[in-house]
Amino acid sequence: MSLPGHRGNIAGRCAERPTRSLGISGAPRASILKNPFQLVDLQHRRVEYLRLSVTDRCNFRCTYCMPAAGVDVVPRAELLDFAEMVALTRIFVQLGVRRVRLTGGEPLVRRDIVDLVAQLAAIPGVDDLAMTTNGHLLADLAQPLRDAGLQRLNVSIDTLDPQQFSHVSRGGALQPVLDGIAAAQRAGFASIKLNAVTLKGLNDDALVPLCDFAAAQGLVLRLIEYMPIGVDAAWGPETWLPIADARARVQAAYALEPDESGEIVGGGPARYWRGRHRQTGQALRVGFIAAVSEKFCEACNRVRLSPTGVLRECLSARGSLSLRDKLRSGATHDELTAAIRDALAGKVDGHQYDAAVPTLESMSAIGG
Ligand code: 5AD
Ligand code: SF4
Repeated sequence: MSLPGHRGNIAGRCAERPTRSLGISGAPRASILKNPFQLVDLQHRRVEYLRLSVTDRCNFRCTYCMPAAGVDVVPRAELLDFAEMVALTRIFVQLGVRRVRLTGGEPLVRRDIVDLVAQLAAIPGVDDLAMTTNGHLLADLAQPLRDAGLQRLNVSIDTLDPQQFSHVSRGGALQPVLDGIAAAQRAGFASIKLNAVTLKGLNDDALVPLCDFAAAQGLVLRLIEYMPIGVDAAWGPETWLPIADARARVQAAYALEPDESGEIVGGGPARYWRGRHRQTGQALRVGFIAAVSEKFCEACNRVRLSPTGVLRECLSARGSLSLRDKLRSGATHDELTAAIRDALAGKVDGHQYDAAVPTLESMSAIGG
């Protein structure tokens, strides 16, 4: 099976594009240029953002993320414990990482997650601490997380229709997520974004209502193109909605203009637009993330750590360096630092996604 224009486009575009070093704002930051220890990858992209997956477990079973039967979870003893996560994060910070995002699976199902947030927030040099959550447990945890030092939240919400929500998440309930978002708004996070994966025939009719909700709440919405990860029967031309189609759906209700600020928010993959509702004039800020049709590798400034402590240089590549094993076998600080540097020095440009050969690994095991 192949998707229109996919293989040629990606390979071609990626080979042509010059790689650039991007800071958070797209411009070199003096503090980084001054740091001779700054991690850089093979393309001289500075790595300043760590995505730390704190668990592979999840209380949802989203169709685009994992098979209906769920995925095998790793034994608890194989997960990094908090002391290990903190020790590794300290090393990444010494190497120039400034921003840390906790992901999963679902990070809020990790026991004592609030304690972990407090420990990470206390590390000098962690300027920005964020989390991506499905929001199911957020109503009770939003305030404690904020108090512990979490600054920003991304909440996944693919539709505002309860039946559709239950279908897409295979049994998840919408109301607790809405309650979680409301609790997060009360808790005063520096930013709350909503994430929705766009799926043809599953939630494409939900995109405008999601825009309306985000606009009314003053929240940024990001629409994410379905990636060939964690696929089972759900992945295919019947469900893959090109991001341009998602944008066209939004444009039916909102006049959109590319955000001219030039800001690549967080060095991240989203391309932002400003919208105005065609009837009501309500303002909207919406981002589009498209790994398949609009590759974003050149701006990639991130590295991932799996729940078992494997360093993953790229979302699309299975990592091979187990920092957990090194830690548990008594590696010194210098040895760990050197191992991370060497792994990153081999980080190449261009992901390996191929719609014809999907990745049979669940996003819950990767951390998004
Ligand atoms: N394609 C695109 N996004 C995905 N996510 C999970 N699986 C996929 C996929 N196959 C997103 C979720 C969540 C984040 C952690 O990853 O929507 O926002
Ligand atoms: Fe859904 Fe996220 Fe859980 Fe995957 S990890 S099943 S995307 S809630």
